[in-house]
Amino acid sequence: MYDAIAREVVSRCRLLAACSDEPGFTTRTFLSESMRQVHAEVSRWMTEAGMSVRVDAAGNIRGVHAAASDTARRLYIGSHLDTVPHAGAFDGVLGVVMAIALVGSLGGRRLPFGIEVVGFSEEEGVRFGLPFIGSRAMAGDVDAALLATTDASGTSIAEAIGHFGLDASRMADARAASNPLGYLEFHIEQGPVLEARQQPVAIVDRIVGRTYADVTFIGSAGHAGTTPMDARWDALTGAAEWVGCVEAHARRTGGLVATIGRIDAAPGAANVIAGQCRVTLDVRHGDDETRNAAIGRLRAAANEIAERRGLTVEWSSRFDHAAVAMDPALVALLARAVERAGVTPHVMSSGAGHDAMILAPHMPAAMLFIRTPGGLSHHPDEAVMEGDVAVALAAGANFLEELADG
Ligand code: GLV
Ligand code: MN
Ligand code: MN
Repeated sequence: MYDAIAREVVSRCRLLAACSDEPGFTTRTFLSESMRQVHAEVSRWMTEAGMSVRVDAAGNIRGVHAAASDTARRLYIGSHLDTVPHAGAFDGVLGVVMAIALVGSLGGRRLPFGIEVVGFSEEEGVRFGLPFIGSRAMAGDVDAALLATTDASGTSIAEAIGHFGLDASRMADARAASNPLGYLEFHIEQGPVLEARQQPVAIVDRIVGRTYADVTFIGSAGHAGTTPMDARWDALTGAAEWVGCVEAHARRTGGLVATIGRIDAAPGAANVIAGQCRVTLDVRHGDDETRNAAIGRLRAAANEIAERRGLTVEWSSRFDHAAVAMDPALVALLARAVERAGVTPHVMSSGAGHDAMILAPHMPAAMLFIRTPGGLSHHPDEAVMEGDVAVALAAGANFLEELADG
């Protein structure tokens, strides 16, 4: 029954992938011009599905399908519309497009609760080095310090909001309604588990905790040809030694993943010893104590390396979030919905971060994962299978029915 809708969902995701900050790739950062194009399409689809549409002060696009009564509670269904650099077509976008399709499939029928579809403006943390701006605004967790954070060109989040034609001083408008019914997110798994199990979907019960930091080694720039090897304070080689140490520590610690995804050396010329080297650190584990202990050890290792090499090191925390459990009642409801769609429910935890982890402390939250061929994500070849999307849509429709039946 959902095959044709699933086909349309996949083709809409591919269409949005063409809205990019960078020709030839899908790269869409917080409130860039390409996000404006995405909003135009998403707004049209939301309107066609019978929703009233607005863009809140954090740049989240929101479509409301009214409830049967004005006093009814609200179910949020969403995911994010920004991407990593050179992304695929489905991370985040699939969840928004599926939510619109689900509302559209109601054919105007009112439920005992309202549904608000949210396309979050920012989840990946690419432009400002800090993730979840969209869902943090909905959770009421955006303060002046966050709005003052600047991107590489010195533009603050508040200014970026203004340039997009929005007003950062109205951030309170982005907050979720009081006493919400919950939050549901459809998302690709982004890993190999479902493919190995030959399962189309899984219910998420937990999202791992995560620490991001910028770590800067500071030495002294100098001439590459004239400075003897024993008279250098090379920030890049200090950082490189530490990067190796990060990988070795993660390999030794069960379940720990640690990534250095970016290195910036300054002044950045082949014939100049790097005076400064900034690297990003992303560390995740299902157990917060293990993650915190790892961060302690990695900080100590950075200090030891810097001291031995006559460098200094600065550690700037960008984001620190504990592991988060999904709501047990919604998890059970989603499991029943999956079973009614003809699939044996499989429950798993998420190694990727999701907007659901920001909203879960504020309202009951649940997530449904969709199989990701090859487990490939954050990559242009990221894919989904239409049949799996159809199963996920059927499960989503069952979820709405079960919720409506109380
Ligand atoms: C989000 O994509 C993450 O980094 O987990
Ligand atoms: Mn992502
Ligand atoms: Mn995502």
